[in-house]
Amino acid sequence: MNHFLSIADLTPDELHSLLDLATRLKSEWRDGGNKPVLKGKSLALVFQKPSLRTRVSFEMGMVHLGGYAFYLSPNEIKMGGRESVADVARVLSGYVDAVMARVFEHEHILDLAKYGSVPIINGLSDYNHPAQALADFFTVLEHKGKTEGLKMAYVGDANNVARSLLFAAMKLGTHFAIATPPGYSLTEEDLALGRQFSTAGAQVEVYEDPVQAVSGADVIYTDVWTSMGQEAEKAERLKIFPPYQINQSLVNRAKPDCIVMHCLPAHRGEEITDEVADGPNSVLFPQAENRMHAQKAILFELLAK
Ligand code: CP
Ligand code: NVA
Repeated sequence: MNHFLSIADLTPDELHSLLDLATRLKSEWRDGGNKPVLKGKSLALVFQKPSLRTRVSFEMGMVHLGGYAFYLSPNEIKMGGRESVADVARVLSGYVDAVMARVFEHEHILDLAKYGSVPIINGLSDYNHPAQALADFFTVLEHKGKTEGLKMAYVGDANNVARSLLFAAMKLGTHFAIATPPGYSLTEEDLALGRQFSTAGAQVEVYEDPVQAVSGADVIYTDVWTSMGQEAEKAERLKIFPPYQINQSLVNRAKPDCIVMHCLPAHRGEEITDEVADGPNSVLFPQAENRMHAQKAILFELLAK
């Protein structure tokens, strides 16, 4: 693994070994702390969009592993504006051992990898959010003991998070059922690519009806209806998406021991109710914590080997 740009780039074996490594690093951390395997290593955190989890979990992940990370806000670099992405990649490669970037255009992630000479980690683009999906399947594994043969129902907007979950589900043998309003679904290209990654137990089902998607599900997943960068569409989306809310009556259609997931930040009262977000099926906050543990596995893989 030279970069971490998309779940699509990883073999199922690589994904499984990242999940194993995350398990090991989390228990090592809980048992008194991680070994400083990244001593002397540095990570630049480049953001074109806001963040709580991604910024703090990568930064603390580096600290726990003995390395150093620093944050560059959207206004500091103005990547692609003040300076080309290619030049940012070339310059940062001379200073740091790896770069994590959160961008609008996915092309910017690809350009960082193309023009830089250090590992690039995708911390979300308009296209995907692979670090989120890795942490999410780590959370599924912790709560369900496996990923194969489980049913994950994703309800809401088929966005960057949904796309990475689809790819991870296919590679990890999970049944992925997605319910979106018409016009907000995954593209044929996404679905075809996802299906190419299918391993035993994996399948994709596409619905408009959220009840059909969550029926018998082990995992229910949702995300905001309006992603960062889509703010101009917010009023329109608020009219379309309410039937896709994760509320208790929808959760009751899944398995009684289903877990409810959300990458956060949540817009409580829109895509998820307080009752569900704070209810017995919710794993929202262990899921958020797991960003740090799963990303330590990425950092270890890219920088400690
Ligand atoms: N889930 C997630 O990526 O959160 P942030 O936007 O706060 O980083
Ligand atoms: N789909 C959301 C995810 C935030 C972590 C967004 O892109 O804004």
